[in-house]
Amino acid sequence: MPLADFRIVYFDEVDDPYQVTLLFQLSLFFPAMPNVLEEMRANDDRYTSEFGIFAVTRDGAVAAGHLLMRIPTATTRGRLDVGGVNAVATRPDFARRGFMTSIMNATHQYFRERGLDHSVLTTSGRLGAMVMYERLDYAELSRSHIAVKYPKQPRTPVPSEVLVRSFSDDDIPIVNKVYTEAVRKSYGFIHRPSDFLKARKYATGEMKPKENLRIAQRGDTAMGYAYWDSNPRISEAYEIIALDSQSFQALLADAEQRNPGAGIFVWCDGLTSLEIGWLRDAGYQVPIETYGIALVKSLKGKTDSRKLKSLYGVELGKFRLGLWDGT
Ligand SMILES: CC(C)(COP(=O)(O)OP(=O)(O)OC[C@H]1O[C@@H](n2cnc3c(N)ncnc32)[C@H](O)[C@@H]1OP(=O)(O)O)[C@@H](O)C(=O)NCCC(=O)NCCS
Repeated sequence: MPLADFRIVYFDEVDDPYQVTLLFQLSLFFPAMPNVLEEMRANDDRYTSEFGIFAVTRDGAVAAGHLLMRIPTATTRGRLDVGGVNAVATRPDFARRGFMTSIMNATHQYFRERGLDHSVLTTSGRLGAMVMYERLDYAELSRSHIAVKYPKQPRTPVPSEVLVRSFSDDDIPIVNKVYTEAVRKSYGFIHRPSDFLKARKYATGEMKPKENLRIAQRGDTAMGYAYWDSNPRISEAYEIIALDSQSFQALLADAEQRNPGAGIFVWCDGLTSLEIGWLRDAGYQVPIETYGIALVKSLKGKTDSRKLKSLYGVELGKFRLGLWDGT
């Protein structure tokens, strides 16, 4: 398809939002019905007012596109806003015709016009998309890691002073407070909106805090929380945050007890070397590298991955990019 046969437009210029739903369904298995898109847009303040950028063919088909973010981050030199690229998708019937490359170039210009010097995205090294990102001068910012414990490995001891209980809506401010306190001396993607759970409801599937969140407390004081997605085979912590090692351990012990036959996986993306140490102390194999990767592109000249890692304290083990904070 010659370049002139499509237009690049923002989300509100797309005539039929179900075309965007279809694009994400086909490319990402992401059932983003228009009401879901509107909810994400209304609640997650990282989306820019244009929300998304798309290539529309002469027939009105949305061939490719992604969502647009402006993300506040913390660096060793203070706050830095970066451009964020989320839900990158080209319909299979329009693949390999340069659609996404054109959209990405337009996006980089869009970010530059808004004073942003970097574009960030999270992806997987398994995907063909990596070739495209490398051609566009994206480079590694951080790698995703997990911690794992299988059922036959020794159980984490249950600390006596910390109680683990279920979550109720009253705990929303508690979760926010624990997070804010825990991340204070680290860098990366740590600035969250106040009603974070609502804002990131669709960040990785649909979040179900009532079913999956557990709260650790010592006396009346909340000390930590963990979000577990569990079935009889696997119990995965999308996020586990605690203010001390005992509370962290209590959250692990709770999951192991509740799912005795399951492999326990903890996503470490949002954790610093301090918490990775707590996982090791509890008998977890950690850190194990996964295919997950965060990429960054400098919008002013060539990307210097080493310099950017150092800006974010990645080598110091002080960088956080939790599963719910990525793009
Ligand atoms: C990744 C994706 C967005 C690429 O979109 P696209 O419009 O086909 O990309 P382009 O045509 O601009 O590709 C430009 C270049 O990127 C590279 N590339 C793109 N897709 C590739 C693939 N699947 N395998 C290897 N290289 C690929 C090629 O170098 C390509 O140039 P070429 O066709 O001249 O060889 C699309 O394949 C897609 O939606 N995939 C499924 C969803 C996905 O993986 N999204 C990324 C999530 S982070």
